[in-house]
Amino acid sequence: MSESDPASDALGAVVYGLAVVGSVSADGEPNGMTANWMSQVSFDPRLFAVAIQDDAHTRSNIDATGVFTISVLPEGSKDLSLKFTAKSTSGEGRLEGEPVTTHATGAPVLEAATAWIECRVVSQSHPGDHVVYVGEVIGGDIGNGTSTTLRDTGMSYSG
Ligand SMILES: Cc1cc2nc3c(=O)[nH]c(=O)nc-3n(C[C@H](O)[C@H](O)[C@H](O)COP(=O)(O)O)c2cc1C
Repeated sequence: MSESDPASDALGAVVYGLAVVGSVSADGEPNGMTANWMSQVSFDPRLFAVAIQDDAHTRSNIDATGVFTISVLPEGSKDLSLKFTAKSTSGEGRLEGEPVTTHATGAPVLEAATAWIECRVVSQSHPGDHVVYVGEVIGGDIGNGTSTTLRDTGMSYSG
């Protein structure tokens, strides 16, 4: 029987959105990864933070180019989000077949997004097992549909 861990349960009760973090390597190879550890953290300047696993391909890309995008996922996009969680498909080709656009940063934005933003990294810290990137929001727009919550998908990434 598993031990009870109320603090972990409490962390699981925080309500998150769900997004694909878009990034690009130094030689222009795009990548996308599913993430929910993200939040706006300043009005002026307009800053947005995202926490990325130490060993993520996305981390290498952001370290190399200093930019990322956030594609906010719509309701009913569990299957879409799962395309961007498998380590085995990370990097080259992961976005194949997925309609994307690019804007000022050159990092990919999913056409399926209900909204997107793009950021240039202004600071980063490494307090635990994820790197926290804080980016200045340099662009963004609304797409179609209603944004999902992590809970709607039945998945979890917390504790
Ligand atoms: C529901 C869900 C939420 C996730 N949220 C995050 C997150 O906020 N940060 C993170 O680093 N990884 C998160 N992951 C794991 C990444 O999506 C996964 O490790 C991915 O393969 C990393 O891709 P990359 O190596 O191409 O960058 C999440 C996974 C799932 C299933």
